[in-house]
Amino acid sequence: MIDRATADRIKDAADIVEVVSDYVHLTRRGSNFMGLCPFHNERTPSFSVNRRKNMCYCFSCHKGGSPVNFIMEKEGINYHDALLHLAKKYGITVEERELTDEERQLQSRREGMLVVNEWAMEKMENNLTATDEGRDIGLQYFLQRGITNEAIRKFHLGYAIDRQTALSDEAKAAGHDLEILKEVGLVGISGNGNMYDRFRGRVIFPIQNTAGKVVAFGGRDLKGGPAKYVNSPESDIYKKNRELYGIYQAKNEIVKQDKCFLVEGYMDVIGMWQAGMKNAIASSGTALTDGQIALIHRFTENITLLYDGDAAGIKAALRGIDMLLSHKMRVKVLLLPDGHDPDSFARINTPEQFRKYVDEHETDIIRFKAQVLMNDAAGDPLKRSEAIRSVVESLACIPDPITANVYIQECSRLMDVDESIIATETRRMRAQILEKRRMERKYEQERDKLATDIKEHSSVAPDHRTGQQSGNTGSPSLMPYEKQLIRYCVRYGMMDFCEGMDESGNAVRLNVAEYVYVDLELENIRFSVPAFEKTFSVILGLKEQYEQDLLKFKATQDVLFQQKREEGIKAISMKEMELSMIALEEERLDESLKAERLEEEKMFSAEYTSRTLASHEDDDVRILANQCANDVQPLSRRFDKIGNNIPEHDRLFDLIPRAITEWKQEITKLEINRLMELIRNAGSGDTELTAETMRQIASLQETMRDIAKSIGERVISPRR
Ligand code: UTP
Ligand code: MN
Repeated sequence: MIDRATADRIKDAADIVEVVSDYVHLTRRGSNFMGLCPFHNERTPSFSVNRRKNMCYCFSCHKGGSPVNFIMEKEGINYHDALLHLAKKYGITVEERELTDEERQLQSRREGMLVVNEWAMEKMENNLTATDEGRDIGLQYFLQRGITNEAIRKFHLGYAIDRQTALSDEAKAAGHDLEILKEVGLVGISGNGNMYDRFRGRVIFPIQNTAGKVVAFGGRDLKGGPAKYVNSPESDIYKKNRELYGIYQAKNEIVKQDKCFLVEGYMDVIGMWQAGMKNAIASSGTALTDGQIALIHRFTENITLLYDGDAAGIKAALRGIDMLLSHKMRVKVLLLPDGHDPDSFARINTPEQFRKYVDEHETDIIRFKAQVLMNDAAGDPLKRSEAIRSVVESLACIPDPITANVYIQECSRLMDVDESIIATETRRMRAQILEKRRMERKYEQERDKLATDIKEHSSVAPDHRTGQQSGNTGSPSLMPYEKQLIRYCVRYGMMDFCEGMDESGNAVRLNVAEYVYVDLELENIRFSVPAFEKTFSVILGLKEQYEQDLLKFKATQDVLFQQKREEGIKAISMKEMELSMIALEEERLDESLKAERLEEEKMFSAEYTSRTLASHEDDDVRILANQCANDVQPLSRRFDKIGNNIPEHDRLFDLIPRAITEWKQEITKLEINRLMELIRNAGSGDTELTAETMRQIASLQETMRDIAKSIGERVISPRR
């Protein structure tokens, strides 16, 4: 580990222009530098380097960051190694701190897990040829399925002996730690505490990461048992949605052909490989994840999805495409003749025939989608418009406008819809997606910032937690104030609150939680109760989901109110009235519907946060949410003392600033008390300290007065 001071020195020394220049030819543009982005292929420069901010950024693929981020991304190394890299460049000597016990443990545990897996892979590979059982059952099975010895070696296929503790016994004998075998999921513990091998009497497919390390295994049943495959569980070395079966064997070929095939299973990858298509990988029976696409993207942008030509296959092909398109992948789909998977198809065709079939049948995914959906909708106008909408949704996921345009033209022709309509709709949808992403990024940043803040604050002495008003946070007397405020955030966090400003000074709308965040940030105050702080950051992160849900809610409302309106209009037309009266009545109807609708939306916002948090996965958050949603406090009852029935969510303008102020006041009061105590305890000779402390007290008392004034002297204590 590099100690903090050295890390800071390295970061200070690293100049973004110098660092980037090692990789990119930069030219000056005004106060910035521009160059071709090193993270994606481009012909016109979108990569901007800002010396003042010491940051770089690609406007097209959005990668970039500090010099450390840049090196991490560019060299594919972790934070620690990126610092070492920069230290070397700037001639800074690094005396690495010893790893903490915890860190060392984690690292050696991971290494230990990989070692055990590697050993197990070799053992099971060996079983296939060196044991009678392995030969008679495992090898026999592979050969009968047409798998060659070459493929068996290439993919390190193996066999797990069908005995309760075959592998664990060997592991023991070889001196391996059985705890580690348990962690990687090679052994399990039965109900009565006995150890057993998790893979028994199965053929084994080791799952290797891009570096060739064995992170997991898949074991196929041979006896018609209930579980066709047993797979290793997730562990410190195996995150399922970031691995792809076959990537290690395929990656070079993927780069060489600038293309990969995505198939469903282990056997398909191997079948394709034997048919000479060595650029196939499998998502192992599940839909592709973001992490897996990012992994593929490191090697190519071209992907062809291979599916069975039946209805299920077609549906599967259509499922993941928006995500793929968003990642700038060029996606094609290839349907195999009905009833065939790549493995079976490879077996009945020569490599030449297979290749020919691919060339003739590979279809661009958007064209495919448009055709399938339009065929399906033939003669049904409602289905037709759904189909168009769905295609537009996909079009809107394409980042490159030129590519999108080509598709728009083509889809307009295929679906027989005016090009300008599709173009407008796509643009509108695209804007929505971008806005959503912008929000996402903003909130990710804020979340990260919050997270690091929390970390930093919790790792230093408690005195620094609230800047000058130190020493008193965490005091039990603050608890009710914090509780009051977190309660407002839990209940009304996502409600639109007021206007604020983002970093570049643009006006933005703040919701309740954001308002509180900004206000607390300003004074460097934070929740001292960890559960509050955690819940608060969860709430801040809700916005994106909220906005999506709100859109959905509004769409439902659209339909509902359209119905209500139609009914209303019908009712009006039944009455016998003059024409002008009818117009007036209709106007009234619209107005009352509009008001009703606004009210519905407000209730949706008001209730959203507590409803969402009430089923949150984190215990602290969920418990707090349920508490806050149910505790009725005298101050905040729906009917207050004066008897006016203004609901709480309509008085937040008054309640929230007041809650913050009261909290600040209590912090200040505690600080004054602490200083007083200091004076009392100071020796009589300590006049200088005493004088300085008195000054501090005076200034804090000033602060108190200001605070009191700001709430019009109305100091109301929250109930305890
Ligand atoms: P398949 O059932 O198509 O398996 O599931 P397969 O690999 O083609 O096997 P054969 O041809 O019947 O021998 C596709 C993939 O889904 C995952 C596996 O990764 C499999 O390769 N899967 C399937 C599981 O993880 N568990 C299961 O129970 C079934
Ligand atoms: Mn199969």
